[in-house]
Amino acid sequence: MIIAIDGPAASGKGTLARRLATQLRFAYLDTGKLYRAVGMAVIKGGADPHDAQAALAAARALDPATLGDRLLSTDTAGKAASVVGAIPEVRAALLDLQRDFATHPPQGAPGAVLDGRDIGTVVCPDAEVKIFVTASVEVRAHRRLQELRSGGHDVKEDDVLRDMRERDARDSGRAVAPMAIAADAVVLDTSRMTAEQALTAALDILAHKSQKT
Ligand code: C5P
Repeated sequence: MIIAIDGPAASGKGTLARRLATQLRFAYLDTGKLYRAVGMAVIKGGADPHDAQAALAAARALDPATLGDRLLSTDTAGKAASVVGAIPEVRAALLDLQRDFATHPPQGAPGAVLDGRDIGTVVCPDAEVKIFVTASVEVRAHRRLQELRSGGHDVKEDDVLRDMRERDARDSGRAVAPMAIAADAVVLDTSRMTAEQALTAALDILAHKSQKT
């Protein structure tokens, strides 16, 4: 079974996907990390993330063992990810890895949960369950602000909100695999939900799906 979780930054999709995977004993892939790792590899190599050749070379050389790097959770990595993610060749180079994970989850897991922007639309269009997790941009910016401040970063709410809007625009506006709600996805708005409530809602969606099949 494949569960596709898509949605914008700080919508709560990562927390939800991880919790679902733990609860169901499914394998979990945070596909944002792949793009973040490519973006950071380009920067570390001294190139600009807009440099398509450098980004493609980094995507082809991506070593899944580097996905645990703590630097990948920084805002610099997030921005670089959204720049390299707009390059069609980079997306194509990361496709097989993601599909292979979904169809052959590691360690014989009975299923896989993947989260990202285009899982339900492009990577796994046949996923049995698709959830598009969202929240208002203000709520998402506030969540990101708290996350950054608790990590000791001194940031202004206005700057975080502006960055969030920019990232949304780039992710929804790109020509290839833009962030979009799959026709058969269920939309889950977490603006007024705790992580626990979002998990309960997702499990309800799953139960509803399996009743239908
Ligand atoms: O989900 P996360 O915030 O880690 O993703 C970072 C960036 O990577 C996103 O803003 C997006 O541009 C890109 N991304 C993507 N497709 C995915 C996952 C992430 O384009 N499936």
